[in-house]
Amino acid sequence: MMTRRQPDRNLALDLARVTEAAALASARWLGLGKKEDGDGAAVDAMRISFNAMAINGRVVIGEGEKDEAPMLFNGESVGTGVGPRMDIAVDPVEGTRLLANGRPNAISVVAMTPEGSMYDPGPAYYMNKLVVPPEAVGMVDIKDPVARTLRKVAQAKNKDVRDLVVFVLDKERHEELIADIRATGARIQLHTDGDVAGALMAVIPDTGIDIMMGTGGTPEGVLAATAIRVLGGEMQGMLDPQSEEEKARVKEAGRDIKQVLKMEDLVSSDDIFFAATGITDGVFLKGVDFTGKGAKTTSLVMRGLTGTVRYVESAHRFDKLMRISSIDYD
Ligand code: FBP
Repeated sequence: MMTRRQPDRNLALDLARVTEAAALASARWLGLGKKEDGDGAAVDAMRISFNAMAINGRVVIGEGEKDEAPMLFNGESVGTGVGPRMDIAVDPVEGTRLLANGRPNAISVVAMTPEGSMYDPGPAYYMNKLVVPPEAVGMVDIKDPVARTLRKVAQAKNKDVRDLVVFVLDKERHEELIADIRATGARIQLHTDGDVAGALMAVIPDTGIDIMMGTGGTPEGVLAATAIRVLGGEMQGMLDPQSEEEKARVKEAGRDIKQVLKMEDLVSSDDIFFAATGITDGVFLKGVDFTGKGAKTTSLVMRGLTGTVRYVESAHRFDKLMRISSIDYD
């Protein structure tokens, strides 16, 4: 029998405040050519806002190891320490170079799931990813040749293969992939960075992207999988070390690079809270708009248990905010 319960707290709404804070703080660095400064501003803001949340959180996907990342490092505890035990994935600026160059699709993003339910990338920096829209769930296999996969997705979407647009990161490692896609007649959007946005575009309707293929960060893959589990669609991944050193460390950690990581392996719970705020303008999220007296932000806020997807537009007033905030937005 189904058990019904009173509406409880939607922590994703609290998470939106965290990504808004990071987006507001980092957007001041748009186009200034300073990757680290933009990221640093987002990390500081994110951490301060996180610590107001009533959770007992542990960063599973953070800014890196403790010694290199002073804050939001892997294993760090966040939140008040009182409340549910949660795994947390953060990317204060996903697309640091996009922000530094003032290019589209830089977002601030956080996902939260119950303790133990999020894939821990360990030493695996890179993952080959395939993301398909809801219509094509269960029809693809990342090990299949590119032409077969594109045929399946086209069929699922009632399109010709040449109608498809594939999101691919513009990297040397993708030379063969790009040639294979072009040989089918499908079209391509090449982006220098930002495959979390790419993965979301592949599952959100009317973004101009039908599918995402290729290798990017493993942490970004897990973050994208949490969102896809709520939005619908499918992601498959295979660890794809890009150096001999990474390969050796992945092997030493007992990870199998031949294993296909499915949605359930990447995030094993439906109890997902997810928030992303646009930093620079993108197709599904507007970037931070400074208005003179404050700023406007747009966020995607989702809860897995209910499947609720919200687009939240917020107006921030610096005259009021700066009286109480310890984060410098102005
Ligand atoms: P950062 O924000 O950490 O710079 O990541 C941007 C990004 O493009 C990700 O979207 C992607 O998964 C990864 O970098 C790809 O890594 P690389 O640029 O080393 O190929």
